[in-house]
Amino acid sequence: MHTFGHPAGITQIKAICERYNIPLVEDAAESLGSYAQGRHTGTFGEVGAFSFNGNKTITTGGGGMIVTDDESLAKKAKHLTTTAKMASPHEYIHDMVGYNYRLPNLNAAIGCAQLEKIQLFLDNKRELAMRYKSFFESQSISFIEEERGSKANYWLNSVLLADKTERDNFLDITNKAGIMTRPIWQLMNKLDMYKSCQTEILTNSYWLEERIVNIPSSVRLKNHVL
Ligand SMILES: Cc1ncc(COP(=O)(O)O)c(C=O)c1O
Repeated sequence: MHTFGHPAGITQIKAICERYNIPLVEDAAESLGSYAQGRHTGTFGEVGAFSFNGNKTITTGGGGMIVTDDESLAKKAKHLTTTAKMASPHEYIHDMVGYNYRLPNLNAAIGCAQLEKIQLFLDNKRELAMRYKSFFESQSISFIEEERGSKANYWLNSVLLADKTERDNFLDITNKAGIMTRPIWQLMNKLDMYKSCQTEILTNSYWLEERIVNIPSSVRLKNHVL
C-alpha cells in the first residue's frame, strides 16, 4: 500500500516476495501518478488496484481499476467482476460466484474526462505540497516529503508532530480556525471487529498514529494563501 500517494519500499517488498514465492498485490488506491524508481506504482506486482473514489486524484464518482500484464488473470478478473456470466446467445449461465463490480459507462465517461486533466491535478498537488513544505519548514514542523528516488502524487498531505500533545494542539487550533485537519486513520487492529485478530507488534504504526495529521490537499487549494 502506497500511503497518501508516497511509494512504499516496493522494490524491497518485491524482492522478498520473489524470494519466498509470494504473489505481490499492490494497493495503489492512493497513488495514481506516483512513481518508484521511474516506474508507476501498481505495476510492480502481479496485480495493482487503483481507486476512483470521490476523494482520489481522479474520480469516477466511485469504483476503480485493476491493472495486470497477466492476460489470464485479467480475463478472470473481468469475468468475476461482471457476474461470471458465460458467453451464450440467450441463456444466463454463471460458472463461478461472481460480482456486479463493473464500472458503469456513465462513470467511465467521467473518468475519461478526468484523465484529460490528470497532469493539471498532479501539477497543482505538487505545487501545493511545495508551498506547505516551505511554510512548515519556517514553523519547524516536519512535512512528509517524497522519498529520494520516488515521485509522489502528493494525494494527501501530512505533517508529523513531535508527540501526541502537539498533535492534539495542532488539531485543535487548526479546526477551531476552520481548517479541516484530521488525525491519521485509526489503526485497524484497534477497531472492535478486528481486536481479536493476529497482529505484529506494530511499534512504528503506534508511533506514527500518535503524531501524523492530514492537512487539506485539494487540487484547487494551490491558489489560496498559506
Ligand atoms: C489504501 C486504500 N485502499 C483501498 C481504498 C478503497 O478504495 P475505494 O474507496 O475505491 O473502495 C482506499 C480509499 O478509499 C485506500 O486509501
